[in-house]
Amino acid sequence: MSESLVDQSRALAAEASDAVGKADSLAAIESLRVLYLGKKGRLAEMFRRLAELTGSEKSLAGSAVNTAKREIEEAIRSREEVLEAQARDARLSSETVDVSLPGRQPLRGRLHPITQVMDEIVGVFSALGFAVAEGPEVETDRYNFEALNFPLDHPARDMQDTFFLPGGLLLRTHTSPVQVRVMERLKPPIRIVAPGKVYRRDADVTHAPMFHQVEGFLVDREVSFADLKGVLSLFARTVFSPDVRVRFRPSFFPFVEPGAEMDIGCVLCGGKGCRVCGGSGWLEILGAGLIHPNVFRAVGYDPEETSGFAFGMGVERIAMLRYGIDDIRLFAENDLRFLHQF
Ligand code: FA5
Repeated sequence: MSESLVDQSRALAAEASDAVGKADSLAAIESLRVLYLGKKGRLAEMFRRLAELTGSEKSLAGSAVNTAKREIEEAIRSREEVLEAQARDARLSSETVDVSLPGRQPLRGRLHPITQVMDEIVGVFSALGFAVAEGPEVETDRYNFEALNFPLDHPARDMQDTFFLPGGLLLRTHTSPVQVRVMERLKPPIRIVAPGKVYRRDADVTHAPMFHQVEGFLVDREVSFADLKGVLSLFARTVFSPDVRVRFRPSFFPFVEPGAEMDIGCVLCGGKGCRVCGGSGWLEILGAGLIHPNVFRAVGYDPEETSGFAFGMGVERIAMLRYGIDDIRLFAENDLRFLHQF
């Protein structure tokens, strides 16, 4: 009986080692562990039979069964190590990063052409000592019209068709309200540029319902029209070309007196006359003038002691002339083929 248990345990160890050696996955090893070493497994069965033996028979068979157990455990452990190493190698080779592959080029953002032109315009005036100010896009009638000397019911209010909002508010139709807001806060001398968005009920190839203006104004004593012409001529020469021609034509804006519009020689035909300049050889780029005494009164300045000039220009208009763009809507369409050119 003990001999057969000794033989049987040796045979079991051999059988188990053989099966474990052929196992090709950790799951298969686990099943073999249950089969041979589990509570209801083949070795457990042999240990139960040991209990039926006595004396030297029992110790002989006991040591044989224990040896078989150690051999099976050892076979399982070493096969597990091999399979784990194989699994690790497979994972490492599937996760390998080829550091010599060329990198992916990230998309580089850039400033919108309108922002670029606006920054450039502001830069010209900053160099002349103008500080930058901003105002709200939602305005009251007082700042957009009344304090700028647009009397109630005056037809000049129709020059800029307005988007009205509930509660007596409106979307500012120009950046000129910033003049009033700044003058209310500060005492002369003042030199300010005010870039920003403005809104009008207007839409065709040269007019957009939302566009950008840069306002500029200088307030001091004894400011003259010659100062205005000097500053704006320098601006045109810097932004367009050193030999650009400029001219000033009388024009009307309620908040300036006298008022003017500045034209530059057409940048497309060189002044000969073309479709863009309507054959005149000139292009209007901004409105300007000496600040009206009523505007000074509205902000509490004494018009006898104070004088100043102001101007306002359309940024889209200037960008279109700079880059030869014939449709203002292109700026708002966000077509990357268009935007990448700047
Ligand atoms: C004004 O807005 C005055 N506030 C300018 C001013 C300031 C005059 C200070 C005197 C003193 P005007 O309505 O002309 O003026 O507009 C100024 C510029 O804005 C125009 O020359 C034009 O270039 C641009 N502009 C006007 N309407 C549109 C529009 N719908 N789309 C794009 N640009 C426009």
